[in-house]
Amino acid sequence: MKLTIIGASGHGKVVADIAKLNGYDEIEFLDDNEELTTCGNYPVTGSTEFAYSIQNNVFVGIGNAIIRKKIMEKLNDKAIVSLVHPDAVIAEDVIIGQGSVVMAGAVINPGTVIGKGCIINTCSSVDHDCIIADYVHIAVGAHLCGTVTVGESTWIGAGATVSNNVTICRKCMIGAGAVVVKEIKEEGTYVGVPSKRITD
Ligand SMILES: CC(C)(COP(=O)(O)OP(=O)(O)OC[C@H]1O[C@@H](n2cnc3c(N)ncnc32)[C@H](O)[C@@H]1OP(=O)(O)O)[C@@H](O)C(=O)NCCC(=O)NCCS
Repeated sequence: MKLTIIGASGHGKVVADIAKLNGYDEIEFLDDNEELTTCGNYPVTGSTEFAYSIQNNVFVGIGNAIIRKKIMEKLNDKAIVSLVHPDAVIAEDVIIGQGSVVMAGAVINPGTVIGKGCIINTCSSVDHDCIIADYVHIAVGAHLCGTVTVGESTWIGAGATVSNNVTICRKCMIGAGAVVVKEIKEEGTYVGVPSKRITD
C-alpha cells in the first residue's frame, strides 16, 4: 500500500513510522526543499506541487497549522488518510477526522471528537467529551481534562494542561508547561501557571 507524505521534516519522519505500522509498505515524501533526498528511511521524490496529481493515498505531515490547512484544502479531500499508532488508546466512540494523526502513547477518552488535520502527539491525553476543531495540535505530553473545547488551528504546547470544561478559541498558542484554568476568548500566545496572554 502506497502513501505519499507531504513534508519531509522530523514530524514527517514520525508520521512515516506510524504509517508503516498502519500497513503502508511503500512510503515516499514530497518537500519543496530541493536539497532533501531522504527523510528517515524513505525517499523524497519531488516537490509538493506533485501532491495534487498523485493517485494514491496522501498525508500532510507538516507541523505548521496554516500550511497544513492550506495544502489539505487544496488537496480537496483527495485520498487523505488518518493515521493512528497501534499503541495509542482510543475509546470506541471517538471520532477522528480525515488527515489527523494520533501518536504513540496518546489516550483519547469516550465522547471526544477530533477534527481534521489534527496532531495528537506522543503521550498526550484528551479526556472525555472534548471537542477538538480542525488543524489543532496537542503537543507531546499535553493533557486536556474532560469537556474541553479547542478552536481551529490552536496549538497546545508540550506538557501543557487544560482544566476541565475550559474552552480555548481558535489560533492560540499555549506555551509549553502552561496550565489553562479558564476560558480563552482572544487569539494569542498564553504561557505560565495559570496561563496569561503575552502576545497577539
Ligand atoms: C510560548 C512560545 C511559543 C513563546 O515563544 P516566543 O513567542 O518565541 O516567545 P519568547 O521565547 O520570546 O518568550 C517571550 C517571554 O515569554 C516567556 N516564555 C516563553 N515560553 C514560555 C513558557 N512555555 N512558559 C513560561 N514562560 C514562557 C519567555 O521567558 C519570555 O519572557 P521574558 O519576556 O520575561 O523574557 C514558546 O516558548 C513555547 O512554549 N513553545 C512551545 C513549544 C512546544 O510545545 N513544542 C512542542 C513540539 S511537539
